[in-house]
Amino acid sequence: MIKFDFETYTKPFIDKDEFKKYYSKKEFYIKKLLNSNMIGWTKNISKEIIEDIKETAKYIKENFDCMVVIGIGGSYLGSYAFQEMFKKYFNDESFEVIYAGITLSSKYLDELLLYLENKNFCINVISKSGTTMETMISYTEIKKILKRKYSKEEIRKRIFITTDKEKGNLREEVNENNYKSFEIPEDIGGRFSFITPSHLLPLALNYDIDKIIDGYYDGKRLIDKAFEYSIIRKMLFEKGKLIENFCVFEQNMYGFTEWLKQLFGETEGKNGVGIYPTSSIYTKDLHSLGQFIQEGNKIVFETFIKVEKTDNFIDYKNRNLHEINNTVLSSTIRAHFKGSVPCLEISIGKIDLETISTLIYFFMLSSAFSGFLFEVDPFNQPGVEIYKKEVKEALGEI
Ligand code: PA5
Repeated sequence: MIKFDFETYTKPFIDKDEFKKYYSKKEFYIKKLLNSNMIGWTKNISKEIIEDIKETAKYIKENFDCMVVIGIGGSYLGSYAFQEMFKKYFNDESFEVIYAGITLSSKYLDELLLYLENKNFCINVISKSGTTMETMISYTEIKKILKRKYSKEEIRKRIFITTDKEKGNLREEVNENNYKSFEIPEDIGGRFSFITPSHLLPLALNYDIDKIIDGYYDGKRLIDKAFEYSIIRKMLFEKGKLIENFCVFEQNMYGFTEWLKQLFGETEGKNGVGIYPTSSIYTKDLHSLGQFIQEGNKIVFETFIKVEKTDNFIDYKNRNLHEINNTVLSSTIRAHFKGSVPCLEISIGKIDLETISTLIYFFMLSSAFSGFLFEVDPFNQPGVEIYKKEVKEALGEI
């Protein structure tokens, strides 16, 4: 159950007639979306691929103690968000999934290599382009451990590659070594690739991916709400609200806010326009950034994600701690609104696989509509290529 309130705490900033004018163009924008050649993420994933993912996950669990996922950006954030949200804070007993390739930190890689030395592990390298530097460096270094310890045949059993069907270094690596591989469809970009093996294989190690897939496609029914959300965001932007702060009150939603930032940042931040996405983990950040939000520069609006219920019950002086947390959420909205900060609220019944997957689809739809409203191509990220070119010039081929 997902509820949306885009009205109560945005009223003074939203002109109703202007909103209606935008909304009347809904069919035009839906057509625009459907005519795009990068909307493979709206189509059904095939049963064969789902079965292949499940069988591979079963094989991995039966034969190894952990899997290292190597990828960056859209190639890891979706599954990372789920792992963060659904594993236990303490004494977690789920199958170990480690993320690599998201940093060039020598400390991280050095310590990871040391940790893996005595582990019975396998690797899932994920890169659509098959050329991403961080991914390739980590892959090369981690593979050295396998090369030192195992025969070619044994290494073959431990490497799983998710990449483009034909292009890139990783596809060549698959072809040369006969590694098990999965494809990222041509019509799905990195940050829209949640419903591909990029995320479903790591997730299948610990979660029921049928629930995830069902929840994801259930997001289709929210198309009108997604469009509404993108209009409200655009109208707030026009009123000088240039930053969207995604606010959560559960620490384990940190990965999800990282996913949101990438989704909106890369989708609409181009041609000198777009809303800058950021995030806060409240109540922690109420004791730091909260000051700025309340009384600082009025360039921020906030989107709160509220979790109505949780299975964990703490009785604090005859009060339910989760209800206290949600009361603080509502009070924060009212306080920030009084400080001229428009606040939007998305409430979910509870954190479960289906609901979070539905939210993923909802936000992907909204970001695509937002891109169109900002008159940019939602599905490219040319800015990222510019920094990569500079790096290449500075480092040469590595
Ligand atoms: O959304 C995107 O396309 C990007 O964020 C990519 O996912 C990211 O740059 C990683 O690219 P690749 O999967 O090609 O390694």
